[in-house]
Amino acid sequence: METTAAAVEADLIASLPADFRWGVATSAYQIEGAVDEDGRTPSIWDTYCRTPGMVHNGDNGDVACDHYHRMPEDVALIKELGVDTYRFSVAWPRVQPRGTGPVNEKGLAFYDRLVDQLLGQGIDPWVTLYHWDLPQELEDAGGWPVRDTAYRFADYAMMVFDKLQDRVRIWTTLNEPWCTAMLGYSEGRQAPGRQEFPAAIAAVHHLLLGHGLATQRMREAATSPIELGITLNMGSSYPATDSAADREAARRADGLGGRIYLDPLRYGRYPKDVVADLLQQGVEIPVLDGDLEIISAPIDVLGVNYYSSHRYSGVDENGSSRGADGQPVTRQVLSGLPVTDMGWEIVPSGFTDLLVRLGRDYPGLPMVITENGSAFADQPDADGYVQDDDRTAYFQSHIGAVAAAREAGADVRGYFAWSLMDNFEWSYGYAKRFGIVRVDYETQQRTLKASALWYRDTIRRVRGGA
Ligand code: FCB
Repeated sequence: METTAAAVEADLIASLPADFRWGVATSAYQIEGAVDEDGRTPSIWDTYCRTPGMVHNGDNGDVACDHYHRMPEDVALIKELGVDTYRFSVAWPRVQPRGTGPVNEKGLAFYDRLVDQLLGQGIDPWVTLYHWDLPQELEDAGGWPVRDTAYRFADYAMMVFDKLQDRVRIWTTLNEPWCTAMLGYSEGRQAPGRQEFPAAIAAVHHLLLGHGLATQRMREAATSPIELGITLNMGSSYPATDSAADREAARRADGLGGRIYLDPLRYGRYPKDVVADLLQQGVEIPVLDGDLEIISAPIDVLGVNYYSSHRYSGVDENGSSRGADGQPVTRQVLSGLPVTDMGWEIVPSGFTDLLVRLGRDYPGLPMVITENGSAFADQPDADGYVQDDDRTAYFQSHIGAVAAAREAGADVRGYFAWSLMDNFEWSYGYAKRFGIVRVDYETQQRTLKASALWYRDTIRRVRGGA
């Protein structure tokens, strides 16, 4: 029986326009496998996976979903879902092994075939140029904390752009620079696994610079209309209580989580409060003359990835407002809401709040939800079918939240489910399943889950079909 909340969500979803863009998303390292074929060289993820203790169960992306060898079947699967767009990423170490030097035609040819396959099925390709798989040799040379990596990225971006721009209209430079910088270089929870906060802040700047350089060059080289953008992962940051310390903590989380990217991209300046917080820790953003002009090169679309929202406290468990490092405490506290298999709280209202706020603070920039979804501990039946009502409910409440944000004025033009299929979930290995299609990793069999059928039917309804 449908609950009142679900009925409200269904009505909201039905209010989405018929030309709303619907898609599914993946990324190269998470699905492709074939890590040493056709000239591909190791990325930081290949190395990280081989570092003991970093990835759950010692898993890696060597085979993943074997998509490199099953691409036409996977495109047929996408077609079955009735989406209009497929968002995928290009593996830098396939296209330009080692991150420098000439293009590797064999590696690029895979994406050429993928684009043709998609177009042949009437599906728009949406290319993400960087979804975390930095060529290992560029990391050996210093990685994103080093300025040169930004220029290397722009060169690589142009190799892909030159080859595919005649058929690909929509381009995202970077996926979630926050994860690359903070999880990769400060917390060490993702590749390359470094724990150096100042290096992470340098990485933030060089990621943005790389985005800006690539954006400028693609715009200049474009021979037909294109849509350029970047994808950020964000949530709403709320103070745990109304205390000044908690409000400060939420401000800091919001600053390093979102505004440190959004303000330079949109307004050509880093947020004053964030700069002041960093200086107070002795960390300076390595900005050179002219950088912010490059970074704020106009974009056409902001990609938003949303999974959860958080409350922040400015005091630790013992009531102290300073950590052992002498810095102010910024501590996430749970609200007691239901969680997904990732332990992430399910907060659709935080999604609406985020989108409305982005529309208000960064007006004139259309948004597309480039990722949203949930992991649950799926229980397949004997045929591999999963009745994942938990995941369907997550989609329904979150797509409803997007529709509510639109009604409140946020200019959101599309939605991509993360993910097309179960895949390599980074440091969680294959233990966490986000797919709307189940993958049996023993046989590589794909089976549409109940959530995939729901998604397909929902899209059809919104479009005004049966
Ligand atoms: C995002 C990543 C994506 C996937 C989801 C669950 O941060 O962009 O690759 O891992 O989380």
